[in-house]
Amino acid sequence: MAGVVAAEIPHDNVVLVGDAAHTAHFSIGSGTKLAMEDGIALVDAFRRLGTDDVPAALAAYQEDRYVDVLKLQKAAQTSLEWFENSARYSGQDPVPFSFNLMTRSKRITYDNLALRDPELVRRATEHFAAKSGTPRAAGGAVPPPVFAPFRLRELELANRIVVSPMCQYSAVEGTVNDWHLVHLGSRAIGGAGLVMTEMTDVSAAGRITPGCAGMYAEEHVEAWRRIVDFVHANSRSRIGLQIAHAGRKGSCSHPWEGDDAPLVQGAWPLLAPSAIPFRAQWPVPRAMRREDMAEVTRQFAASTEMALRAGFDLVELHMAHGYLLSSFISPLSNRRDDEFGGTLENRMRFPLQVLDAVRRIWPEHLPVTVRISATDWLGEAGLTGGDAVEIARLLAARGCDAVDVSSAGNVPESQPDYGRMYQVPFAERIKYEVGVPVMAVGAILGVDHANTILAAGRADLCCMARPHLADAYLTLHAAERYGYREQYWPGQYLLGRSKPGE
Ligand SMILES: Cc1cc2nc3c(=O)[nH]c(=O)nc-3n(C[C@H](O)[C@H](O)[C@H](O)COP(=O)(O)OP(=O)(O)OC[C@H]3O[C@@H](n4cnc5c(N)ncnc54)[C@H](O)[C@@H]3O)c2cc1C
Ligand SMILES: Cc1cc2nc3c(=O)[nH]c(=O)nc-3n(C[C@H](O)[C@H](O)[C@H](O)COP(=O)(O)O)c2cc1C
Repeated sequence: MAGVVAAEIPHDNVVLVGDAAHTAHFSIGSGTKLAMEDGIALVDAFRRLGTDDVPAALAAYQEDRYVDVLKLQKAAQTSLEWFENSARYSGQDPVPFSFNLMTRSKRITYDNLALRDPELVRRATEHFAAKSGTPRAAGGAVPPPVFAPFRLRELELANRIVVSPMCQYSAVEGTVNDWHLVHLGSRAIGGAGLVMTEMTDVSAAGRITPGCAGMYAEEHVEAWRRIVDFVHANSRSRIGLQIAHAGRKGSCSHPWEGDDAPLVQGAWPLLAPSAIPFRAQWPVPRAMRREDMAEVTRQFAASTEMALRAGFDLVELHMAHGYLLSSFISPLSNRRDDEFGGTLENRMRFPLQVLDAVRRIWPEHLPVTVRISATDWLGEAGLTGGDAVEIARLLAARGCDAVDVSSAGNVPESQPDYGRMYQVPFAERIKYEVGVPVMAVGAILGVDHANTILAAGRADLCCMARPHLADAYLTLHAAERYGYREQYWPGQYLLGRSKPGE
């Protein structure tokens, strides 16, 4: 694929348009559109700036088109990759396959496609509802995919929307408080099927910052129970605890007090697979010995037992973003030469021991999920999407019920290719190649994106973090927008729901 335009263009009174300036893979068939839009932008630039200063008008045209062309080229690349992997979809039923094909570049979404081809979206919605056992709404309407229930072991989630874990850095000595009650409580009232807590640490030394939440002392159980009870009493949301150890990324200041810099006062020693700091200037962690591994495993087990007593519905093990378990998995942070380093199987040994310990305590009828970093975004040097498939396979074989697929965080050099729904391809690959349920996350910018992912069969649950910061009531808003009357509204808020036909 050609670059947008050479740096020396525009030059004097010369500028390029159309194919001469850029190309995009033909699978999205946009060459004509791009060329015509270039022409329109060029005329607009002259209309705006006049013809006295031709280079200025050409520069304005160039600037105008640059980002749009890049976006389209990215969509073309995504579409190209879809075709490269299309064998994966050969078993898909014709209706979701067609929906999948039409939304392959991620530029066309559920809502957008409903304008272009309402019949296809209606049939894809019907198909998804039938397959997922979604009850028809009163009057026979079929709810959009996000409102389909989902079952993990015996846990029933009312819908497919998940409040992604979000550190709040507001606990005191690990104890959560009113902030967490309001934060998590309002997102449960907001209607998400599953509300995940922030990364909650299994020991004081396993915290990222002094404000991180913990589950390692009796007072933590009580504080969490208050929140869990509120969620259960006042919403239909289920609530999961994400448990973690920060490893070599621990002992930092609150992010809004200096961008995750290591603590100067009150710092604590760090543990990691190898004695390599996260950043060159950061404190060097201690390479874990067998006794350290046994102790951390015991801490994860103890936190799990506490989570059970606090009434949580689900436990998620945090094996992503460069924290302790994640740093064992990535070859960039694990340089051990014993049986816990080297091959992927060896690097997974300690994380799997922890999963086993958690699964032994967590009841058979309740689910355990695991968040992973599917790739280090550094090519073959780090974790790749292929490794993620093997990781997921190992996790599923040991009782992980769904893999929550994130990426990066192990090393600061990672170069994520950000964009809408950018981590979904990793989740989708795991879903198809391992057959374990997957939770997608990362720039899923609202319910339209979530519906697109679900109807195309790319993931089972959609986690949203930042969209839930701006809108605690995201699911209620979506229910209103799609006319889904069966969404649970707490009695106190019922008058806020529109009346039929309003
Ligand atoms: C087989 C094929 C299928 C395609 N299918 C699609 C599709 O389905 N949808 C889509 O959007 N796009 C499609 N495209 C791409 C699309 O046709 C091009 O992206 C689009 O035509 C580019 O427009 P343009 O004006 O930049 O270039 P062109 O359409 O190539 O126009 C350039 C013109 O300049 C003329 N020219 C060249 N040199 C000189 C010269 N020295 N002096 C004077 N004139 C000159 C050429 O003869 C030509 O007429 C397809 C392309 C091909 C080849
Ligand atoms: C404020 C904030 C705190 C976060 N804390 C956590 C966390 O505790 N655990 C975790 O796994 N991810 C955490 N994340 C990552 C999110 O869960 C999510 O994966 C990421 O933000 C991408 O999703 P988004 O595009 O919907 O925001 C955090 C993100 C934000 C914005």
